[in-house]
Amino acid sequence: MDVKDKIVIVTGASSGIGLALSKMLSENGAKVALVSRSQEKLNNISKNLKNSFVVVADMSKEDEVRQMVKKVFDHYGSIDILVNNAGVGYYASIEDTKIENLKKVFDLNVVGPLVAMQSVIPIMKKQGGGIIINISSGTALMYIPNMSVYSSSKRALGGISLTANEELKNHNIKVSVVYPTITNTNFLQNAIKEQHMNLSNRNSQIPEVDSAEYVAEKVLYAIKTSESEIFAHDYMKR
Ligand SMILES: NC(=O)c1ccc[n+]([C@@H]2O[C@H](COP(=O)([O-])OP(=O)(O)OC[C@H]3O[C@@H](n4cnc5c(N)ncnc54)[C@H](OP(=O)(O)O)[C@@H]3O)[C@@H](O)[C@H]2O)c1
Repeated sequence: MDVKDKIVIVTGASSGIGLALSKMLSENGAKVALVSRSQEKLNNISKNLKNSFVVVADMSKEDEVRQMVKKVFDHYGSIDILVNNAGVGYYASIEDTKIENLKKVFDLNVVGPLVAMQSVIPIMKKQGGGIIINISSGTALMYIPNMSVYSSSKRALGGISLTANEELKNHNIKVSVVYPTITNTNFLQNAIKEQHMNLSNRNSQIPEVDSAEYVAEKVLYAIKTSESEIFAHDYMKR
């Protein structure tokens, strides 16, 4: 799909991959609904993005997710593309994992995107089609010590995406999952941590760190091609 004049929701638009993507979409003529919890940051970003619209929402809260989609629809009158990008990391061994934190991670990384999908699907069906992109992680394809909960949440999101893609084929709604690998954003600082993670193991498996813009280009490619799985690098393909 060409993004020009399309209405696009980007969650997690205040930083990192979501911010880079929102700028790129806007430069390509899309009208972007910028979603995160940080009103001031979003307002400042919106000043430079023509036809953008700020919606403050905590994507881990079901009601706020539904309200967010309603606000975007009321503002623009349609929704062509949803990018579920907001997410949080969690570093803890299985032994140290706190169930309370596991629930926080799954609420944001799995439940929020699922509720957002459920909210846009009826709108897209009525419009005759649409595109949903879910941002997973390369960790969903690996078994990395201290990342079991985070990688499982991203594996769940991948499973939901690929299944939805099959379910929605006849409605011209394409669902893609994008797998970034280590990307230069605030992700590590923002992650929930029960213990320090030994990054040396991880770095030995992953040869490079990508920029947020590099990953945003992959998301644009996913929107343009509707390929069901997009990997940041070919070596990640199974
Ligand atoms: N960076 C990496 O190495 C990497 C690798 C693989 C996958 N990913 C995935 O890429 C996505 C983007 O991450 P990033 O690297 O750009 O990280 P980031 O810089 O930490 O950005 C995270 C974004 O999510 C938003 N967010 C966090 N909690 C939220 C909540 N409860 N409700 C609404 N928005 C929330 C943040 O905004 P507010 O704080 O303003 O709410 C921020 O805009 C995530 O899904 C992450 O899992 C990242």
